[in-house]
Amino acid sequence: MRAAPRSCKPSDRAAVERLLAEADLPVPVEGEPDVEFVVVDEGEGVVACAGWEIHGESALLRSVAVDERARSRGLGRAVVKEALRRLDGRGIRDLTLVTLDAERFFEPLGFEPIPRESVPPAVRASPEFRIHHCASGLWMRRLR
Ligand SMILES: CC(C)(COP(=O)(O)OP(=O)(O)OC[C@H]1O[C@@H](n2cnc3c(N)ncnc32)[C@H](O)[C@@H]1OP(=O)(O)O)[C@@H](O)C(=O)NCCC(=O)NCCS
Repeated sequence: MRAAPRSCKPSDRAAVERLLAEADLPVPVEGEPDVEFVVVDEGEGVVACAGWEIHGESALLRSVAVDERARSRGLGRAVVKEALRRLDGRGIRDLTLVTLDAERFFEPLGFEPIPRESVPPAVRASPEFRIHHCASGLWMRRLR
């Protein structure tokens, strides 16, 4: 049976950062807003992660990555669904993300493209918003 997503432990952090770097995604650094993660570990280390930043009543879903060798097995969808479940539990109603080329991955999970200008102001203040390659990415908002 596939391992279920669980909360990221401090001891997972290095593996998560490696996964993000390999996927060419920004690695959260000290001084940036806190990023909470869920991960999947199938027994040999973390192979999938999804993170989020909370900005007041809004949140930014970010850092969704699956080890190349573990892709196309539903792990990406599983970590995003778990992140959504947790954000729902916290009453977050406004959830956005930015992606370069995974629009089709996020659409069936309930997201639709939005213009940059529609990104909530609190999320715009995030460093993720200003990172160049994210700045040129497509923004999406979760439909409720
Ligand atoms: C995007 C990513 C997380 C998908 O992970 P995955 O475990 O392979 O995805 P899943 O197996 O859960 O796929 C779920 C569905 O999305 C589709 N899909 C997966 N990656 C896709 C992509 N990049 N573009 C479009 N569709 C994609 C799958 O075909 C599958 O559809 P199906 O159910 O009809 O077969 C993974 O490819 C990745 O780490 N990419 C690099 C980092 C990235 O771009 N992250 C997103 C921005 S934060």
